[in-house]
Formats: sequence, structure tokens, C-alpha cells
Amino acid sequence: MKTKEDINLGHLPQHIAIIMDGNGRWAKEKGKFRIFGHKNGVKAVREVSEGCAELGVKYLTLYAFSTENWNRPKVEINALMALLVKTIKKETSTLMKNGIRLEAIGDKKTLPEDCRNELKEAIELTKENTKMTLILALSYSAKWDIVNATRDIVKRAIDGKIALKDVNENLINNTLTTHKYPHPELMIRTSGEYRISNFLLWEIAYSELYFTNVLWPDYRKEDLHEAILDYQKRERRFGKTSEQFI
Ligand code: FPP
Repeated sequence: MKTKEDINLGHLPQHIAIIMDGNGRWAKEKGKFRIFGHKNGVKAVREVSEGCAELGVKYLTLYAFSTENWNRPKVEINALMALLVKTIKKETSTLMKNGIRLEAIGDKKTLPEDCRNELKEAIELTKENTKMTLILALSYSAKWDIVNATRDIVKRAIDGKIALKDVNENLINNTLTTHKYPHPELMIRTSGEYRISNFLLWEIAYSELYFTNVLWPDYRKEDLHEAILDYQKRERRFGKTSEQFI
């Protein structure tokens, strides 16, 4: 079996995006409440963050709470928000120690106040870190981002700041909340589900997709290494033919 040592550090994805899925099922298997799964998912968050930073992956985006997750039972939403606050508070020193900058994408104004404050503080504190950027997608969905970007572009057009001819791929890209980051070369989803669930739809146009049956709370560095090794075997053609790459 191939291991971390087999990873070609010269051919790493710069940006990995992860749909962390399976917390609820993991807890159910153990006869526990869903939040037990979320709590145990924090260990996996730590593992992948550390694993990416160790290798030299520059950006890691984690889908922590989607726009659609607001439809979950109130008790689960509250517990998840409390867990986020607690985790951010607890992990800020580790982020500093590892040179990791924390950022967030999503409709932050919909988050509870303590969550917004904790997030703001951690983002401010870690903003000079350069080893890796950890982006939490919170109250995020790709369609939300695309709708907002469209509104922004239409407003600029109405105000006479841009013309129809200015609307192109670059303009849309630069209006999305993800504009600061390179598009992920690799997207991972855990728990054996084969869906994108409204995550980074624009940005994954040419991403390699990797699905694993491992439930998120069980996800470890070795699983991340396996995904990267698989990515390194793929031929990324971007619409061209294999021969054009020889
Ligand atoms: C999906 O599993 C997971 C979530 C909606 C939340 C992810 C949150 C964490 C891992 C906790 C802390 C995160 C950070 C970034 C500090 P699910 O509930 O949909 O599982 P299921 O599909 O088995 O029901």
C-alpha cells in the first residue's frame, strides 16, 4: 500500500475542498445522538488541517454548515453552532503554532452573534499566517454565492459602472466570495455519498472528484494521503487530448 512517502510533493493540489459527511450515521451506528458524531468530527478537522499543512497544501476549504443545514432540527443547529464556537476558541493557538490563517465564506450575518465574534477574532489573529489558509464554509452554498454575485454585477451595470461587454468569466469569478483563492484541484466527499450538495459549483468546474466510504469522524491523515495519491494518478486534460500533453 502506498503511503505519505509516495506523495510527489512537486505535484500537490494547491487547494483541497472537503465535504465532511457522515457524522450523523457514525453516531447512529454507535447508538448515540447526532451531535456526538459532530463532536468526533472535530478530530478529523484537526487531522486534515495538520495533514495538509505538513505536506504544503496551501488552501483547504471545509464545508462545515450549508445554507440548507438551517433546515435541520433547531437542537442540532444550536449544538453545531456551540461546537463551532468552542472549537474555534480552542484551536486558535494551534492555528498560530502551525502558521495557518483562518478565513470563512458564506452568509456570515445569519450566524449567531457569538459565532460571528469568535470567527472574527480568530480571523484577525491569524491573518498574517502564511503556511496555509483554512477556509470554513459556514452558512454557505454555491447558489447563494452566485445569486449574490449576479446581484452585485447587475447593480454595477445599472449604476453605469460596467457594460454588457464587461460581463465575462473573469468578472463573475472575481465577484464570488471565493475570488481570493485558486480553484480547488481536488474535491473530497466522505461517507459514500456521490453528490456535490451545492458546494463550490463554479469553482469545481475542472476539479478532480474523490469519494470515499469513510465516515467523517473516522477520517485520518492516511485517508487524505490516499486521496492525494489518487489525484496524482489522474490526467487533467482541461478539454484537451492526452497527446497535447506529451
Ligand atoms: C455532515 O454530516 C456534517 C456537518 C453538517 C457538520 C460538520 C461539522 C463538524 C465536523 C464539526 C466541527 C467543524 C469545524 C470546522 C470546527 P451529517 O450530519 O450530514 O451526517 P449524516 O449524513 O450521516 O447524517
